[in-house]
Amino acid sequence: MDDAGSVVVLTGAGVSAESGVPTFRGEDGLWRNFRAEELATPGAFARDAKLVWEWYQWRRELVAACKPNPGHEFIARLEREHRGDFLLVTQNVDGLHRLAGSSKLVEVHGDIWQVRCTSCGSSREDRTLPFPELPPKCDGCGGLLRPGVVWFGEALPEEAIGRAFAAANSCDLMLVVGTSAVVYPVAYLPELAKDAGAYVIEVNPDETPLTPRADESWRGKAGEVLGGLL
Ligand code: OAD
Repeated sequence: MDDAGSVVVLTGAGVSAESGVPTFRGEDGLWRNFRAEELATPGAFARDAKLVWEWYQWRRELVAACKPNPGHEFIARLEREHRGDFLLVTQNVDGLHRLAGSSKLVEVHGDIWQVRCTSCGSSREDRTLPFPELPPKCDGCGGLLRPGVVWFGEALPEEAIGRAFAAANSCDLMLVVGTSAVVYPVAYLPELAKDAGAYVIEVNPDETPLTPRADESWRGKAGEVLGGLL
């Protein structure tokens, strides 16, 4: 990996699974037990902001009790030690990569610790747990706050996804860790990297739609496989 000029790491929920954060599509995945359209869409928030916030508050509580695992730690160390360009693109909103020390990263699906006012548009980090009332209100204008995450049917933050596509298009190596590779536009990134000539390694205990195109598939859990390289 040292020889690769430009490295992109793409992660999904699987990298945080060994930390205790549930994935979305696995056996106990969130989308097996909850309906995305009732909890993670602009329509759901318009219908019942309190219900949506109860779900996000539950996830914030869950994530607050979790720590980075050796998978996150390996990726943070790769960033520190790699001499060429490096970018971590994560679909995760849990903030565990930053806790592990990653700093060259884009969170393309947002950050569960950010809140954004639906009236004045201001956004900030807010780690209040639990909020005294749900849904929480903006300190500045009293408007309704929403979680700073991307919901189904919403556009991804332009700058973040732009950086991710540019990096994927020019990387030499892409390491794809713990994602089912089914949610677009992020699932295009490994395709783009392959088309542009990059070497793509997948780390996942299961096969995904990316597997047939990946140059190597390391079958196993991120913490074990990447932790073993630490
Ligand atoms: P998924 O839940 O779809 O996929 C998790 C992947 O991690 C699966 O391929 C598992 O096989 C794999 N996995 C499970 N345990 C693992 C482990 N210990 N180590 C490595 N891999 C493991 O999660 P994502 O691909 O992240 O979007 O889902 C993408 C997006 O769909 C999420 O960002 C979220 C969701 O709906 C939004 O909320 C917008």
